[in-house]
Amino acid sequence: MRFYIYAFLCCVWWDVTFGARRIKLGLGEPNSPETRNAQPVVDYWFQQKLDHFNPTDKRTWKQRYQINQDFYKSGGPVFLMIGGEGKMSSKWINSGAWIEYAEEFNALCFQLEHRFYGDSHPTEDASTANLVYLSSEQALADLAEFIVGMKAKYNIPPESKWIAFGGSYPGSLAAWLRMKYPHLVHAAVSSSGPLLAKIDFYEYYKVVEDALSTYKPACVTQIKLANQMLNAIIKSGKEIKYINKKFKLCDPLDRNNKKDVSNLFESLADNFAEIVQYNKDNRKSNMTDTNAIITLETLCDIMTNESIVSPLEKYAAVNDRMLSSNNLTCTDYVYEKEVNILKNVSWESSAASSRQWTYQTCTEFGFYQTSNQDEHVFGNKNPVNFFTDMCVDVYGEKFNTDLLAKGVDRTNWMYGELNIKETRVVYVHGSVDPWHALGITRTKTVNTAAIYIVGTAHCANMYPSATTDLPQLTKARIAIKAFLSDWLTISDDLDSTNQETVRFDSK
Ligand SMILES: *[C@@H]1O[C@H](CO)[C@@H](O)[C@H](O)[C@H]1NC(C)=O
Ligand SMILES: *[C@@H]1O[C@H](CO)[C@@H](O)[C@H](O)[C@H]1NC(C)=O
Ligand SMILES: *[C@@H]1O[C@H](CO)[C@@H](O)[C@H](O)[C@H]1NC(C)=O
Ligand SMILES: *[C@@H]1O[C@H](CO)[C@@H](O)[C@H](O)[C@H]1NC(C)=O
Repeated sequence: MRFYIYAFLCCVWWDVTFGARRIKLGLGEPNSPETRNAQPVVDYWFQQKLDHFNPTDKRTWKQRYQINQDFYKSGGPVFLMIGGEGKMSSKWINSGAWIEYAEEFNALCFQLEHRFYGDSHPTEDASTANLVYLSSEQALADLAEFIVGMKAKYNIPPESKWIAFGGSYPGSLAAWLRMKYPHLVHAAVSSSGPLLAKIDFYEYYKVVEDALSTYKPACVTQIKLANQMLNAIIKSGKEIKYINKKFKLCDPLDRNNKKDVSNLFESLADNFAEIVQYNKDNRKSNMTDTNAIITLETLCDIMTNESIVSPLEKYAAVNDRMLSSNNLTCTDYVYEKEVNILKNVSWESSAASSRQWTYQTCTEFGFYQTSNQDEHVFGNKNPVNFFTDMCVDVYGEKFNTDLLAKGVDRTNWMYGELNIKETRVVYVHGSVDPWHALGITRTKTVNTAAIYIVGTAHCANMYPSATTDLPQLTKARIAIKAFLSDWLTISDDLDSTNQETVRFDSK
């Protein structure tokens, strides 16, 4: 029953009901117009190398980027918004906290779409053979080449300081970019970035549970009871028809199909996870129809509504609410269908971003949001192998758990996971966002900073500031600005008084 991917800088709406939310990550779109001064935003194209790590491969492609010069004053810094696991949204080039900072610091702003997402197509299609060029390392090298290219194209003074911004996976990229290319990027604001790659991300649903429980402990109890009832019905085989009807399943449930059963449990858990992850951010909070705004409170109020007697009925009522808010008539959960959609290699496929991002999870990150203990609130039907089997089913035998384990280790030793060694990065996380569990939430050294905002969700600090913001969110935005202000006045020359070369001669 997944319906949309909140991929970075965008919400791709799905005309199929599958494949989008399996590994929930990504930033939404701000609630702003897609124009600037009533003019549509212009797309530019940067000639990029296909393979940065093979100098003999001369193939190139065109990468999409956008620019905002409204606030730039000569001598100002350059801000770079990093695109991520979805189509880049033009809205971000005009709005968001980073644009408010740009106005303050007279910055020139760029945003660059991530290779293989949106309109940035390095290859003919997204076949598994072509996806070998999809990786965070290639994306970081794209960013490095882009910076060098823009300096030349726009005659940006060499001493201009570049600041990287990113939320969600691009939050990780922002920190990694600063670490890997410190001569190109002076500082970074890394929002909600998972820095630790991990196959079994069981902490995800723990944070969801805590968030629901903080509002109403009974909400969690009811969800747990509902999942136990669902489990019992599926086990006994009695009243399957009731499940088909209550949960508006698109296809009748075959209880012997383990993958379908897992997928159903996951879809229903997703109803909560998706709302918690994006709870009350500024994507939709300015919608005119307030009834359309669903928060974790909305869902918990249904789960604790005493006029609905059975926990299972309450769980179904939540599902109804989520279906109708997304204009869906039925709950899609058939595994085989989902895999077939994810196998589509066409750029036009409605599951394109999802195919690409799933590939990155299967080769670099894992991040699988499991529920696999008997006592788990959302049941025990989504163990790690449910997700890792999908890698094999979508991309082929080679993409097995061994490849994944090595890929995840590789990511961690390449970037240093939570022990990353870098300077001038501010990490921002929200307590309600499950992704904070894989990020840096405590300041470790004097040269970096961690900001932890109690009560906010995924990438909350990145959206445009609003009068409805929690006071702690407003404080966090001000703190980020103060770091930027400090760092923009720091020169890279640590000690300019001692610049003599110590020279040894043969004599
Ligand atoms: C909501 O949007 C309207 C129109 O774009 C704007 O005037 C108003 O200030 C916004 N409200 C909030 C709380 O952001
Ligand atoms: C509880 O559920 C009933 C029946 O669906 C509904 O009429 C009522 O508005 C709900 N109450 C709350 C507080 O949501
Ligand atoms: C649902 O459909 C209505 C009417 O067609 C439309 O106004 C609304 O934007 C749609 N909502 C979503 C989430 O697609
Ligand atoms: C893949 O998706 C495209 C675009 O939606 C569609 O036209 C095509 O038929 C799909 N291919 C397969 C094999 O399903």
